[in-house]
Amino acid sequence: MPEKCRIGVVGIGQRGADYLRLLRTHPGADLCALCDVSRERLSEFAEELDCGNVPQYSALDEFLEKGNPDAVLITTPDFTHAECAAACLQAGKHVLLEKPMAPTAGECRKILKAAEKSEKILQVGFEMRCHPLFRQVLRFVRDGVIGQLLSMNFSESLSVMHGASYMRRWHRKSCNSGGFLLAKCSHDLDMMNVLADAEPRRIVSFGGLNFFTPDKMKKRFCSECGDRECRFRFHGEMVRMTAAESRRPSRNQFDLCVFNDDKDVVDNQQLLLEYANGVRAAFSLNLFAPQGRRRWELAGTLGHIHADTLEKEVTVFFSNGKEPLTVHCESGNGSSHDGSDRIFLDEFISCILHGTAPAVDAAAGLVTTVTANAAEKSRLSGSVVTIDPEEFQI
Ligand SMILES: NC(=O)c1ccc[n+]([C@@H]2O[C@H](COP(=O)([O-])OP(=O)(O)OC[C@H]3O[C@@H](n4cnc5c(N)ncnc54)[C@H](O)[C@@H]3O)[C@@H](O)[C@H]2O)c1
Repeated sequence: MPEKCRIGVVGIGQRGADYLRLLRTHPGADLCALCDVSRERLSEFAEELDCGNVPQYSALDEFLEKGNPDAVLITTPDFTHAECAAACLQAGKHVLLEKPMAPTAGECRKILKAAEKSEKILQVGFEMRCHPLFRQVLRFVRDGVIGQLLSMNFSESLSVMHGASYMRRWHRKSCNSGGFLLAKCSHDLDMMNVLADAEPRRIVSFGGLNFFTPDKMKKRFCSECGDRECRFRFHGEMVRMTAAESRRPSRNQFDLCVFNDDKDVVDNQQLLLEYANGVRAAFSLNLFAPQGRRRWELAGTLGHIHADTLEKEVTVFFSNGKEPLTVHCESGNGSSHDGSDRIFLDEFISCILHGTAPAVDAAAGLVTTVTANAAEKSRLSGSVVTIDPEEFQI
Protein backbone atom coordinates (compact mmCIF):
# COMPACT_ATOMS: atom_id res chain seq x y z
CA MET A 1 0.00 0.00 0.00
CA PRO A 2 1.51 3.43 -0.94
CA GLU A 3 2.31 5.71 1.99
CA LYS A 4 1.58 8.88 0.05
CA CYS A 5 -0.60 9.89 -2.86
CA ARG A 6 0.29 12.42 -5.52
CA ILE A 7 -2.13 15.35 -5.27
CA GLY A 8 -2.63 18.25 -7.69
CA VAL A 9 -4.72 21.39 -7.13
CA VAL A 10 -6.74 23.20 -9.83
CA GLY A 11 -7.69 26.82 -9.05
CA ILE A 12 -5.16 28.67 -6.90
CA GLY A 13 -7.46 31.34 -5.44
CA GLN A 14 -8.91 31.82 -1.95
CA ARG A 15 -9.99 28.22 -1.40
CA GLY A 16 -7.05 26.68 -3.21
CA ALA A 17 -4.78 28.54 -0.76
CA ASP A 18 -6.58 26.95 2.24
CA TYR A 19 -5.84 23.49 0.90
CA LEU A 20 -2.29 24.27 -0.22
CA ARG A 21 -1.40 25.37 3.32
CA LEU A 22 -2.54 21.95 4.57
CA LEU A 23 -1.07 19.92 1.71
CA ARG A 24 2.45 21.34 1.91
CA THR A 25 3.15 19.42 5.09
CA HIS A 26 0.57 16.62 4.93
CA PRO A 27 2.20 13.26 5.73
CA GLY A 28 -0.05 11.39 3.26
CA ALA A 29 0.27 13.80 0.33
CA ASP A 30 2.90 14.58 -2.21
CA LEU A 31 1.88 17.92 -3.77
CA CYS A 32 2.84 17.27 -7.39
CA ALA A 33 1.18 19.86 -9.67
CA LEU A 34 -0.72 23.15 -9.67
CA CYS A 35 -3.09 24.49 -12.32
CA ASP A 36 -4.80 27.85 -12.84
CA VAL A 37 -5.98 29.55 -16.03
CA SER A 38 -4.03 32.63 -14.96
CA ARG A 39 -0.26 32.10 -15.24
CA GLU A 40 0.35 35.28 -13.27
CA ARG A 41 -1.82 34.15 -10.34
CA LEU A 42 -0.36 30.68 -10.50
CA SER A 43 3.29 31.68 -10.18
CA GLU A 44 2.75 34.51 -7.70
CA PHE A 45 0.45 32.63 -5.33
CA ALA A 46 2.51 29.44 -5.53
CA GLU A 47 5.55 31.46 -4.44
CA GLU A 48 3.58 33.21 -1.68
CA LEU A 49 2.28 29.85 -0.39
CA ASP A 50 5.74 28.30 -0.39
CA CYS A 51 4.94 25.96 -3.31
CA GLY A 52 7.06 27.75 -5.91
CA ASN A 53 8.96 24.53 -6.74
CA VAL A 54 5.78 22.56 -7.60
CA PRO A 55 5.26 22.20 -11.40
CA GLN A 56 2.67 24.67 -12.70
CA TYR A 57 0.28 24.43 -15.66
CA SER A 58 -2.30 26.76 -17.11
CA ALA A 59 -4.07 24.06 -19.18
CA LEU A 60 -5.96 21.26 -17.44
CA ASP A 61 -5.06 18.52 -19.94
CA GLU A 62 -1.35 19.29 -19.62
CA PHE A 63 -1.65 19.36 -15.81
CA LEU A 64 -3.32 15.92 -15.88
CA GLU A 65 -0.84 14.40 -18.29
CA LYS A 66 2.51 15.89 -17.22
CA GLY A 67 1.67 16.50 -13.55
CA ASN A 68 0.35 12.93 -13.31
CA PRO A 69 -1.55 13.29 -10.00
CA ASP A 70 -3.41 10.34 -8.39
CA ALA A 71 -5.97 12.81 -7.05
CA VAL A 72 -7.09 16.34 -7.86
CA LEU A 73 -8.54 19.02 -5.58
CA ILE A 74 -10.79 21.29 -7.68
CA THR A 75 -11.11 24.78 -6.22
CA THR A 76 -12.25 26.79 -9.25
CA PRO A 77 -15.44 28.91 -9.45
CA ASP A 78 -18.71 26.96 -9.40
CA PHE A 79 -19.56 27.42 -13.09
CA THR A 80 -16.36 25.56 -14.07
CA HIS A 81 -16.91 22.51 -11.80
CA ALA A 82 -18.67 20.18 -14.26
CA GLU A 83 -16.10 20.55 -16.99
CA CYS A 84 -13.06 20.29 -14.67
CA ALA A 85 -14.41 17.41 -12.57
CA ALA A 86 -15.59 15.33 -15.54
CA ALA A 87 -12.20 15.78 -17.27
CA CYS A 88 -10.26 14.73 -14.13
CA LEU A 89 -12.48 11.68 -13.53
CA GLN A 90 -12.27 10.67 -17.20
CA ALA A 91 -8.48 10.87 -16.89
CA GLY A 92 -8.72 8.32 -14.03
CA LYS A 93 -8.05 10.69 -11.13
CA HIS A 94 -9.70 10.71 -7.69
CA VAL A 95 -11.44 14.05 -7.15
CA LEU A 96 -12.21 16.30 -4.20
CA LEU A 97 -14.58 18.84 -5.77
CA GLU A 98 -15.39 22.03 -3.92
CA LYS A 99 -19.01 22.69 -3.08
CA PRO A 100 -21.47 23.29 -4.60
CA MET A 101 -21.11 20.31 -6.93
CA ALA A 102 -22.37 22.43 -9.86
CA PRO A 103 -24.99 25.13 -10.50
CA THR A 104 -27.44 22.84 -12.36
CA ALA A 105 -28.73 19.30 -11.81
CA GLY A 106 -27.72 18.40 -15.38
CA GLU A 107 -24.10 19.33 -14.66
CA CYS A 108 -24.17 17.34 -11.38
CA ARG A 109 -25.39 14.27 -13.29
CA LYS A 110 -22.57 14.69 -15.81
CA ILE A 111 -20.04 14.61 -12.94
CA LEU A 112 -21.74 11.68 -11.21
CA LYS A 113 -21.84 9.65 -14.43
CA ALA A 114 -18.14 10.32 -15.03
CA ALA A 115 -17.41 9.16 -11.45
CA GLU A 116 -19.49 6.02 -11.87
CA LYS A 117 -17.69 5.15 -15.10
CA SER A 118 -14.21 5.85 -13.75
CA GLU A 119 -14.78 4.02 -10.43
CA LYS A 120 -12.63 6.70 -8.78
CA ILE A 121 -13.39 8.48 -5.50
CA LEU A 122 -15.45 11.64 -5.81
CA GLN A 123 -15.81 13.64 -2.60
CA VAL A 124 -17.90 16.83 -2.72
CA GLY A 125 -16.58 19.71 -0.59
CA PHE A 126 -19.11 19.60 2.24
CA GLU A 127 -16.43 19.83 4.93
CA MET A 128 -19.06 21.01 7.43
CA ARG A 129 -19.94 17.31 7.75
CA CYS A 130 -16.63 17.02 9.63
CA HIS A 131 -17.37 20.03 11.86
CA PRO A 132 -17.00 18.88 15.50
CA LEU A 133 -20.30 20.56 16.41
CA PHE A 134 -22.20 18.98 13.53
CA ARG A 135 -20.76 15.53 14.27
CA GLN A 136 -21.92 15.82 17.89
CA VAL A 137 -25.43 16.93 16.83
CA LEU A 138 -25.65 14.08 14.32
CA ARG A 139 -24.52 11.57 17.00
CA PHE A 140 -27.22 12.79 19.40
CA VAL A 141 -29.89 12.57 16.69
CA ARG A 142 -28.82 9.12 15.48
CA ASP A 143 -28.56 7.83 19.06
CA GLY A 144 -32.18 8.90 19.62
CA VAL A 145 -31.25 11.29 22.46
CA ILE A 146 -34.14 13.62 21.49
CA GLY A 147 -36.40 10.78 20.35
CA GLN A 148 -37.80 11.12 16.86
CA LEU A 149 -36.61 14.24 15.05
CA LEU A 150 -39.60 16.35 13.99
CA SER A 151 -38.26 19.76 12.99
CA MET A 152 -35.15 21.91 12.58
CA ASN A 153 -34.40 25.60 12.63
CA PHE A 154 -31.07 26.53 11.01
CA SER A 155 -29.51 29.92 10.39
CA GLU A 156 -26.33 31.24 8.85
CA SER A 157 -25.27 34.83 9.43
CA LEU A 158 -22.25 36.38 7.75
CA SER A 159 -20.56 39.36 9.35
CA VAL A 160 -21.35 42.41 7.26
CA MET A 161 -17.80 42.76 5.89
CA HIS A 162 -17.75 39.06 4.91
CA GLY A 163 -21.17 39.48 3.26
CA ALA A 164 -19.92 42.58 1.43
CA SER A 165 -16.97 40.65 -0.03
CA TYR A 166 -19.39 38.41 -1.96
CA MET A 167 -21.11 41.48 -3.40
CA ARG A 168 -18.01 42.37 -5.41
CA ARG A 169 -16.67 38.90 -6.34
CA TRP A 170 -17.90 36.44 -8.99
CA HIS A 171 -20.54 35.19 -6.50
CA ARG A 172 -22.49 38.42 -7.08
CA LYS A 173 -24.01 36.98 -10.28
CA SER A 174 -26.37 33.99 -10.14
CA CYS A 175 -25.15 32.70 -13.50
CA ASN A 176 -21.75 31.96 -11.93
CA SER A 177 -23.09 29.79 -9.12
CA GLY A 178 -26.81 29.05 -9.44
CA GLY A 179 -27.62 31.72 -6.80
CA PHE A 180 -26.25 32.70 -3.42
CA LEU A 181 -28.15 30.03 -1.48
CA LEU A 182 -26.46 27.28 -3.48
CA ALA A 183 -23.08 29.02 -3.55
CA LYS A 184 -22.78 29.64 0.18
CA CYS A 185 -25.47 27.67 1.98
CA SER A 186 -25.13 24.34 0.18
CA HIS A 187 -23.34 23.34 3.42
CA ASP A 188 -26.42 24.13 5.49
CA LEU A 189 -28.82 22.44 3.07
CA ASP A 190 -26.58 19.38 3.06
CA MET A 191 -26.43 19.24 6.88
CA MET A 192 -30.22 19.54 7.13
CA ASN A 193 -30.62 16.81 4.50
CA VAL A 194 -28.29 14.49 6.43
CA LEU A 195 -30.07 15.11 9.75
CA ALA A 196 -33.53 14.68 8.21
CA ASP A 197 -32.32 11.44 6.63
CA ALA A 198 -34.79 11.81 3.75
CA GLU A 199 -35.16 13.67 0.48
CA PRO A 200 -36.76 17.13 0.45
CA ARG A 201 -40.25 17.13 -1.07
CA ARG A 202 -41.76 20.62 -0.76
CA ILE A 203 -40.08 23.98 -0.42
CA VAL A 204 -41.05 27.61 -0.19
CA SER A 205 -38.66 30.53 -0.05
CA PHE A 206 -38.62 34.32 0.22
CA GLY A 207 -35.63 36.55 -0.09
CA GLY A 208 -34.18 39.66 -1.65
CA LEU A 209 -31.55 42.34 -1.68
CA ASN A 210 -32.35 44.85 1.05
CA PHE A 211 -29.02 46.01 2.48
CA PHE A 212 -26.51 46.24 -0.39
CA THR A 213 -28.89 48.38 -2.47
CA PRO A 214 -27.90 51.13 -4.97
CA ASP A 215 -26.59 54.37 -3.46
CA LYS A 216 -26.64 57.49 -5.67
CA MET A 217 -23.96 59.14 -3.54
CA LYS A 218 -21.37 56.53 -4.47
CA LYS A 219 -19.62 55.55 -7.71
CA ARG A 220 -19.32 52.17 -9.41
CA PHE A 221 -15.73 51.56 -8.27
CA CYS A 222 -14.21 52.48 -4.90
CA SER A 223 -11.15 53.95 -6.62
CA GLU A 224 -13.44 56.45 -8.41
CA CYS A 225 -15.51 57.30 -5.32
CA GLY A 226 -15.11 60.40 -3.19
CA ASP A 227 -16.63 58.79 -0.07
CA ARG A 228 -13.36 58.06 1.71
CA GLU A 229 -15.07 57.36 5.04
CA CYS A 230 -17.20 54.51 3.60
CA ARG A 231 -16.60 51.42 5.75
CA PHE A 232 -16.99 49.24 2.65
CA ARG A 233 -14.24 51.04 0.75
CA PHE A 234 -12.05 48.36 -0.85
CA HIS A 235 -8.65 47.78 0.75
CA GLY A 236 -7.98 44.32 -0.65
CA GLU A 237 -9.66 42.40 2.18
CA MET A 238 -11.04 38.88 1.59
CA VAL A 239 -9.77 38.80 -2.00
CA ARG A 240 -6.62 37.15 -3.29
CA MET A 241 -4.94 39.53 -5.78
CA THR A 242 -1.58 39.49 -7.50
CA ALA A 243 0.67 42.55 -7.20
CA ALA A 244 -0.36 43.67 -10.71
CA GLU A 245 -4.06 43.15 -9.93
CA SER A 246 -3.81 45.19 -6.73
CA ARG A 247 -2.13 48.09 -8.56
CA ARG A 248 -5.16 48.37 -10.90
CA PRO A 249 -8.06 46.67 -9.04
CA SER A 250 -10.78 48.30 -11.17
CA ARG A 251 -9.49 46.67 -14.34
CA ASN A 252 -10.41 43.28 -12.84
CA GLN A 253 -13.48 44.63 -11.03
CA PHE A 254 -12.03 43.81 -7.60
CA ASP A 255 -12.96 47.20 -6.15
CA LEU A 256 -16.56 47.31 -7.33
CA CYS A 257 -18.83 49.30 -5.00
CA VAL A 258 -20.82 46.73 -2.98
CA PHE A 259 -23.92 48.93 -3.44
CA ASN A 260 -23.67 50.09 -7.04
CA ASP A 261 -22.35 47.06 -8.90
CA ASP A 262 -24.10 44.75 -11.35
CA LYS A 263 -25.17 42.00 -8.92
CA ASP A 264 -28.38 39.95 -9.01
CA VAL A 265 -28.08 37.87 -5.80
CA VAL A 266 -29.90 38.21 -2.47
CA ASP A 267 -28.47 39.41 0.84
CA ASN A 268 -31.15 37.74 2.96
CA GLN A 269 -33.30 34.68 2.36
CA GLN A 270 -35.67 32.42 4.28
CA LEU A 271 -36.94 29.00 3.38
CA LEU A 272 -39.20 26.24 4.66
CA LEU A 273 -38.68 22.64 3.69
CA GLU A 274 -40.69 19.48 4.14
CA TYR A 275 -38.98 16.11 3.79
CA ALA A 276 -40.41 12.85 2.43
CA ASN A 277 -40.53 11.42 6.00
CA GLY A 278 -42.46 14.42 7.36
CA VAL A 279 -39.49 16.19 9.04
CA ARG A 280 -39.78 19.97 8.56
CA ALA A 281 -36.99 22.54 8.46
CA ALA A 282 -36.60 26.32 8.38
CA PHE A 283 -33.46 28.10 7.22
CA SER A 284 -32.50 31.75 7.40
CA LEU A 285 -29.57 33.49 5.69
CA ASN A 286 -28.30 36.97 6.46
CA LEU A 287 -25.30 38.76 4.93
CA PHE A 288 -25.23 41.89 7.07
CA ALA A 289 -24.92 40.57 10.62
CA PRO A 290 -22.72 41.91 13.42
CA GLN A 291 -20.92 38.54 13.67
CA GLY A 292 -20.56 35.42 11.55
CA ARG A 293 -22.23 32.39 13.15
CA ARG A 294 -24.35 29.34 12.49
CA ARG A 295 -27.15 28.34 14.87
CA TRP A 296 -29.05 25.09 14.85
CA GLU A 297 -32.13 24.10 16.86
CA LEU A 298 -33.60 20.64 16.50
CA ALA A 299 -36.86 19.50 18.04
CA GLY A 300 -37.64 15.86 18.76
CA THR A 301 -40.28 13.95 20.67
CA LEU A 302 -38.06 13.77 23.80
CA GLY A 303 -36.30 17.12 23.74
CA HIS A 304 -34.44 19.84 21.87
CA ILE A 305 -30.84 20.30 20.73
CA HIS A 306 -29.26 23.75 20.47
CA ALA A 307 -25.87 24.33 18.82
CA ASP A 308 -23.99 27.52 18.05
CA THR A 309 -20.70 27.80 16.17
CA LEU A 310 -19.68 30.90 18.16
CA GLU A 311 -20.25 29.22 21.50
CA LYS A 312 -18.77 25.94 20.21
CA GLU A 313 -21.31 24.06 22.30
CA VAL A 314 -24.13 21.61 21.79
CA THR A 315 -26.81 21.46 24.49
CA VAL A 316 -29.61 18.94 24.83
CA PHE A 317 -32.73 20.10 26.70
CA PHE A 318 -34.93 17.22 27.85
CA SER A 319 -38.73 17.52 27.81
CA ASN A 320 -39.03 15.42 31.00
CA GLY A 321 -37.26 18.10 33.06
CA LYS A 322 -33.92 16.24 33.35
CA GLU A 323 -30.85 18.51 33.69
CA PRO A 324 -29.64 19.81 30.27
CA LEU A 325 -26.52 18.19 28.84
CA THR A 326 -23.85 20.45 27.31
CA VAL A 327 -20.89 19.26 25.23
CA HIS A 328 -18.06 21.60 24.24
CA CYS A 329 -16.78 20.77 20.73
CA GLU A 330 -13.48 21.93 19.27
CA SER A 331 -11.15 20.18 16.85
CA GLY A 332 -8.00 21.93 18.10
CA ASN A 333 -6.25 21.42 14.75
CA GLY A 334 -6.29 25.14 13.78
CA SER A 335 -7.47 24.69 10.17
CA SER A 336 -10.30 26.81 8.74
CA HIS A 337 -14.02 26.12 9.29
CA ASP A 338 -13.30 25.37 12.97
CA GLY A 339 -10.90 22.60 12.03
CA SER A 340 -13.22 20.79 9.60
CA ASP A 341 -10.90 21.39 6.63
CA ARG A 342 -8.07 19.29 8.03
CA ILE A 343 -10.36 16.42 9.08
CA PHE A 344 -12.08 16.50 5.68
CA LEU A 345 -8.79 16.42 3.77
CA ASP A 346 -7.44 13.63 6.01
CA GLU A 347 -10.52 11.56 5.27
CA PHE A 348 -10.14 12.09 1.50
CA ILE A 349 -6.48 11.05 1.59
CA SER A 350 -7.31 8.09 3.82
CA CYS A 351 -9.95 6.92 1.25
CA ILE A 352 -7.27 6.87 -1.41
CA LEU A 353 -4.56 5.23 0.69
CA HIS A 354 -6.65 2.80 2.73
CA GLY A 355 -9.82 2.33 0.67
CA THR A 356 -12.13 3.78 3.37
CA ALA A 357 -15.48 5.37 2.43
CA PRO A 358 -15.52 9.10 1.57
CA ALA A 359 -16.84 11.51 4.22
CA VAL A 360 -19.55 12.58 1.76
CA ASP A 361 -21.38 10.38 -0.72
CA ALA A 362 -21.15 12.11 -4.10
CA ALA A 363 -24.91 11.98 -4.76
CA ALA A 364 -25.36 14.50 -1.91
CA GLY A 365 -24.02 17.12 -4.31
CA LEU A 366 -26.94 16.55 -6.69
CA VAL A 367 -29.49 16.55 -3.84
CA THR A 368 -28.21 19.91 -2.62
CA THR A 369 -28.24 21.50 -6.06
CA VAL A 370 -31.79 20.26 -6.71
CA THR A 371 -32.89 21.59 -3.29
CA ALA A 372 -31.31 25.02 -3.73
CA ASN A 373 -32.62 25.37 -7.28
CA ALA A 374 -36.15 24.51 -6.08
CA ALA A 375 -35.82 27.17 -3.38
CA GLU A 376 -34.70 29.69 -6.01
CA LYS A 377 -37.65 28.74 -8.21
CA SER A 378 -39.99 29.30 -5.27
CA ARG A 379 -38.38 32.64 -4.38
CA LEU A 380 -38.73 33.93 -7.92
CA SER A 381 -42.26 32.59 -8.53
CA GLY A 382 -43.72 33.12 -5.05
CA SER A 383 -45.13 29.58 -5.00
CA VAL A 384 -44.58 26.35 -3.09
CA VAL A 385 -42.39 24.05 -5.21
CA THR A 386 -42.80 20.27 -5.10
CA ILE A 387 -39.66 18.33 -5.96
CA ASP A 388 -40.21 15.26 -8.12
CA PRO A 389 -38.15 12.35 -6.65
CA GLU A 390 -37.02 11.67 -10.24
CA GLU A 391 -34.87 14.82 -9.98
CA PHE A 392 -32.58 13.04 -7.52
CA GLN A 393 -31.87 10.24 -9.98
CA ILE A 394 -28.51 10.16 -11.77
N1 LIG B 1 -15.99 24.59 1.25
C1 LIG B 1 -15.95 25.86 1.57
O1 LIG B 1 -16.26 26.21 2.68
C2 LIG B 1 -15.54 26.88 0.54
C3 LIG B 1 -15.03 28.12 0.92
C4 LIG B 1 -14.66 29.02 -0.08
C5 LIG B 1 -14.82 28.68 -1.40
N2 LIG B 1 -15.33 27.47 -1.74
C6 LIG B 1 -15.50 27.08 -3.14
O2 LIG B 1 -14.21 27.03 -3.75
C7 LIG B 1 -14.32 27.38 -5.13
C8 LIG B 1 -13.34 28.51 -5.45
O3 LIG B 1 -13.73 29.68 -4.74
P1 LIG B 1 -12.65 30.83 -4.43
O4 LIG B 1 -13.29 31.73 -3.46
O5 LIG B 1 -11.34 30.22 -4.11
O6 LIG B 1 -12.56 31.55 -5.86
P2 LIG B 1 -11.35 32.46 -6.37
O7 LIG B 1 -11.94 33.32 -7.43
O8 LIG B 1 -10.64 33.11 -5.24
O9 LIG B 1 -10.32 31.42 -7.03
C9 LIG B 1 -10.61 30.66 -8.15
C10 LIG B 1 -9.32 30.44 -8.95
O10 LIG B 1 -9.64 29.52 -10.01
C11 LIG B 1 -9.01 29.99 -11.23
N3 LIG B 1 -9.79 29.44 -12.35
C12 LIG B 1 -10.96 29.88 -12.87
N4 LIG B 1 -11.38 29.05 -13.85
C13 LIG B 1 -10.47 28.06 -13.95
C14 LIG B 1 -10.35 26.90 -14.77
N5 LIG B 1 -11.28 26.59 -15.67
N6 LIG B 1 -9.26 26.13 -14.62
C15 LIG B 1 -8.29 26.43 -13.71
N7 LIG B 1 -8.35 27.52 -12.90
C16 LIG B 1 -9.43 28.31 -13.00
C17 LIG B 1 -9.04 31.50 -11.10
O11 LIG B 1 -8.04 32.11 -11.90
C18 LIG B 1 -8.78 31.70 -9.60
O12 LIG B 1 -7.40 31.83 -9.32
C19 LIG B 1 -15.78 27.72 -5.37
O13 LIG B 1 -16.46 26.60 -5.87
C20 LIG B 1 -16.30 28.05 -3.98
O14 LIG B 1 -17.70 27.84 -3.82
C21 LIG B 1 -15.67 26.56 -0.80
